Amino acid sequence: MERTLILLKPDAVQRRLMGTLISRFEEKGLNFVAMKLLKITPELAKQHYAEHVEKGWYPTLENFITGGPVVAAVLEGLEAIQVVRDMLGATSGLKAAPGTIRGDFSSSRQMNLVHGSDGPDAADREIKLYFKPEEIVEGDLHLTPWLRAGDE
Ligand code: CDP
Ligand code: MG
Repeated sequence: MERTLILLKPDAVQRRLMGTLISRFEEKGLNFVAMKLLKITPELAKQHYAEHVEKGWYPTLENFITGGPVVAAVLEGLEAIQVVRDMLGATSGLKAAPGTIRGDFSSSRQMNLVHGSDGPDAADREIKLYFKPEEIVEGDLHLTPWLRAGDE
């Protein structure tokens, strides 16, 4: 089992797509093990996007990501990190394949609705940025035997 961090970015909240997007992850069979609504501060934005802070476009990204509430959540599932990245699609909504979240809902490179950790190290680091260990809720859901075979 893997865990990954997602953010429903400010555009998702403002466009009232929270429910729709949460449903997509639920329907896929991923488990929500932590979730909160918060406003990202410039300091947290710089930590979250540390790899991009020096880029020319970082200031506009910081304005965007701090510009309204976001939903942070931890998803758990088999190969959850790659599964979520595949569900998001390419960074730009203009390039993302139809059927992906960005491909279906976004026409922007910046306002692409959902963040997902891009690997195991990023997932560990990002989960710790948003959640204390005690905020992560353990316990399997009863539907699991109907989502995959016992040996998967
Ligand atoms: O989110 P993803 O890993 O697909 O993309 P990224 O290249 O790591 O960039 C992080 C985020 O910065 C993107 O999801 C966009 O919201 C934003 N971005 C931007 O504002 N302008 C760019 N030229 C590229 C990315
Ligand atoms: Mg990235």
